[in-house]
Amino acid sequence: MIIAIDGPAGSGKSTVARGVARRLGFTYLDSGALYRAVTLLALEGGADLDDGAALGRLASAASIELRDRDGESVEVHVDGRDVSHEIRTPHVTGASSTVAAHAEVRAALLSKQRALIAAGNYVVEGRDIGTVVAPDAALKVFLTADADERARRRAAELERRGLQMEAREVKAAIEKRDRLDSTRSAAPLRAAEDAVNLDTTGLESKDVIERVLELVDGVRAAGTS
Ligand code: DC
Repeated sequence: MIIAIDGPAGSGKSTVARGVARRLGFTYLDSGALYRAVTLLALEGGADLDDGAALGRLASAASIELRDRDGESVEVHVDGRDVSHEIRTPHVTGASSTVAAHAEVRAALLSKQRALIAAGNYVVEGRDIGTVVAPDAALKVFLTADADERARRRAAELERRGLQMEAREVKAAIEKRDRLDSTRSAAPLRAAEDAVNLDTTGLESKDVIERVLELVDGVRAAGTS
């Protein structure tokens, strides 16, 4: 069974997807980590971020491994190196939307994602999971939240990791990323037609997790009736 959770930056996807996966005993797949890992390699190698063909080759050749740490966090290893922290820096975050916009990069990472989720029960979070990666997912959820709240959540998350950034600056950065992610021609950020839209503004993540679990129960009940 695949559960797809899509939405813009700061909509609560990671916390919700991780929480739902833990409660159901499913594996959590953070597809954004794959795009971030390729972005890190591109930046380290001094690649031209506008060269889709070269970035696509980089993405195909990279060995990216996601290691679950007791359901608490996921370690990201690239070619055997633990890059879990490096891929979350504002520099990598800022460049990730540019890298992710290339069709060649998306094609390379699509095969990796499909191979991973082919066997087993997964909660997959991203931007195009319900529309492209897993169009047959048993449940598709599209999370949103207003931009101020998303900026606050992102700023708090950065602070937990020891990075100080003005809320205004964080808001501008996530709005820029949303714009790039939703206006690209290859697999843009959007809700699948059959996705359940959940606005998480003012909600705690535990309530959103409960709501998604209710939706899973509904899908399961419909499957057995
Ligand atoms: O979810 P995130 O912030 O870790 O994602 C990082 C970038 O990767 C984001 O700006 C857009 C891209 N991305 C994507 O294009 N498609 C996905 N399924 C997941 C992430």
